Amino acid sequence: MNNLKAELLRGLWYVACTSEELKAGKTMAKKLMGEPVLFGRDRHGKAFAIRDICPHRGIPLRYGRFDGETVQCCYHGWKFDTSGTCVDIPSTHEYQTIDYSKISCGAFPVKEQQGLVWVYFADGTERPEDGRQPEPPLLPDFGLDQGPRLAIMLPFVCSVDHAALGLMDPTHAAFVHTSWWFKKNATKLRPKEKHFAPSELGWAMVRHKLPPQNIAYKLLGNDVTTEIRYSLPGLRIEHIKGDRHSVVGLTTITPVDEDKTEVRQMFWATMGWVSPFKPLLRRLMTTFLDQDRRVVIQQREGLEYNPKLMLINDADTQGRWWMQLKDEWTRSGSEGRDFQNPVRERTLRWMS
Ligand code: FES
Ligand SMILES: [Fe+2]
Repeated sequence: MNNLKAELLRGLWYVACTSEELKAGKTMAKKLMGEPVLFGRDRHGKAFAIRDICPHRGIPLRYGRFDGETVQCCYHGWKFDTSGTCVDIPSTHEYQTIDYSKISCGAFPVKEQQGLVWVYFADGTERPEDGRQPEPPLLPDFGLDQGPRLAIMLPFVCSVDHAALGLMDPTHAAFVHTSWWFKKNATKLRPKEKHFAPSELGWAMVRHKLPPQNIAYKLLGNDVTTEIRYSLPGLRIEHIKGDRHSVVGLTTITPVDEDKTEVRQMFWATMGWVSPFKPLLRRLMTTFLDQDRRVVIQQREGLEYNPKLMLINDADTQGRWWMQLKDEWTRSGSEGRDFQNPVRERTLRWMS
């Protein structure tokens, strides 16, 4: 693992933004995976993503204008449709014939479901259907049209690797997430023992019962259980369900480039009464995520010196799995063979 920069995995779907962020008839420029991408939503409501560079002279297309159907470059007015194909070159004289359809700024496959806009970064020129992850993952218990109740995003000044290691790190909470409203106190660590098993492109903390005396869990009914899945390219899906309601928490890490990352936290809930609590919940979620964000800024000061780092058992075993999964994804891709999940079923123990 390189301390400051991470290897970015391709051939996978990444969360680009929430559906709400992408307004009809508008575009939104973002750098993701080190690539300039111009996201947009056409006037019929369909989301798209094109490469934010004009193939004529390279100026970003975001400086141009979007009429709900085509993006017009600000320099010489070339127009591109939402699939990236050129549809007009204003300087074309009536005596000239130019096949516009041969000119493209490039596009990225986009899929919108459950209130999220996913974008596919191909490995070479393959399409997602022919790739190794044909579809973005679906969250359990919620329909295709059901978006998150709440979504926040904070930019992290660290590579996806450190963002991921923080995300799956069970022992930092007592030291980093210390707020009056959050239980932790570093002097009262308790032994933990959880069972893990391989799952699609990652692993799962196997479904287990949550303490019935906890008031928050009681709201979901009886027999409340949870399962937490971690998967490439940086997703954490927590599915808590009782006999009456269920909640899904999703954390996503999307690389801006090799050393910057967007971290999103969202949740879906079947309970209708969540809405009035949104401002409070938003504040708590932001405080919590901001604690993680600040720690990686401090960590970076040390990483600049390129120290040799450690991953210890069992606290960092999941961090090891993350690195092994990434490695296997890259290796299986370059060898042209199926991905073989390196994670084996086992129990992990730590104090937290
Ligand atoms: S640079 Fe875009 S049209 Fe010329
Ligand atoms: Fe954290």
